[in-house]
Amino acid sequence: WFSHVEMAPRDPILGVTEKFLADKNPDKINLGVGAYRDDNGQPVVLESVREAERRVAGSHFMEYLPIGGLRDFVSESVKLAYGDDSPVVAAGQVAAVQSLSGTGSCRLFAEFQRRFMPHSSVYIPVPTWSNHHNIWRDAGVAQNGYRYYKPETRGLDFEGLMEDIKNAPNGSVFLLHACAHNPTGVDPTPEQWQAMSKLMLDKSHFAFFDMAYQGFATGDCTRDAAAIRIFIDDGHRVGLSQSYAKNMGLYGQRVGCFSLVCDSAAEAAKVESQMKLIARPMYSNPPLHGALLVSKILHDADLKQQWYQEVGVMAARIKDMRGLLRHNLQQLGSPHNWQHITDQIGMFCYTGMSGEMVDTLAAAHSIYMTRNGRISMAGVNTKNVARLAEAMHAVTKE
Ligand code: LMR
Repeated sequence: WFSHVEMAPRDPILGVTEKFLADKNPDKINLGVGAYRDDNGQPVVLESVREAERRVAGSHFMEYLPIGGLRDFVSESVKLAYGDDSPVVAAGQVAAVQSLSGTGSCRLFAEFQRRFMPHSSVYIPVPTWSNHHNIWRDAGVAQNGYRYYKPETRGLDFEGLMEDIKNAPNGSVFLLHACAHNPTGVDPTPEQWQAMSKLMLDKSHFAFFDMAYQGFATGDCTRDAAAIRIFIDDGHRVGLSQSYAKNMGLYGQRVGCFSLVCDSAAEAAKVESQMKLIARPMYSNPPLHGALLVSKILHDADLKQQWYQEVGVMAARIKDMRGLLRHNLQQLGSPHNWQHITDQIGMFCYTGMSGEMVDTLAAAHSIYMTRNGRISMAGVNTKNVARLAEAMHAVTKE
């Protein structure tokens, strides 16, 4: 039955972890997957999450959730993204279901797009998170790229991006990273978001925001949701994927929220019923535990405040590591301008190193990252930054 099945390629991100785990060097460093680590390189469970766990422990049955997930969780998630005073939330215009984190939300939307926006293709930034391509491919939606990153400036290709928005057929779907763009760490400014919103409105495009890093860009969850709120204020009906993997450190719990802003509450009810119809044969209903934890945190003013503060601490540590890495490279006399390490934001640094350089870092230094030269800054700490800088200098100085 299976003799024709060929070995699949490794995943460009999670495959890095597989290579890292196989390396016997005790000083090996994993800068591949975007998962937060403390200054000792250890995974972190937030105190707010531990407290939520204590409150949840022993207090719930383990029944199935409804197809759309935990209602309290969904309503708080939607407020976290669109704002406590959001008129579209107040008017019941937001159709939303609990999802399996960012991937699951995007996958639900891609399927929704294929069914209900059949003449649209999706425009994906170049570059983007590698899994985006897989998600829309498997949903059978045609993909195009739009210009996003300019290697010469190591910044946003704003002119290219605006041109591509303009030239796309009216009614196209644009996948936008709400903040902390993965992999580049380059985000539009508020003024640029405003211009993009206006142009997309003129073109009747639909904006689908992937917000996997709310809180990780500026350390402030409200500021990080600014792009979505600009679009909503302009009258867009947007789609949104939210993930609590990074900002609550709930990676393995697979907890997220998928929402679509509709014209009316009546329309939202129909749209939500179709979201459930998509979810049911895929995974029946979402997992309970992570949603309970998030719901406890978002419902309790003190816990929420503590969580906000903890997100800020994680974002600040990453920012410090950017400064240290750049400083170390300069101290070593690197001939390159590494300013982009500190200019970029969020969890990743898009170094500009080539695939060959990345291969040498792994083979000669046991330092692992994705072949596009992306460093997960969350894996950098005061103990490994000097070794990382030396290795980067060694492979880039020629
Ligand atoms: C990443 O880009 O490293 C993360 O989003 C984790 C993943 O699932 O790829």
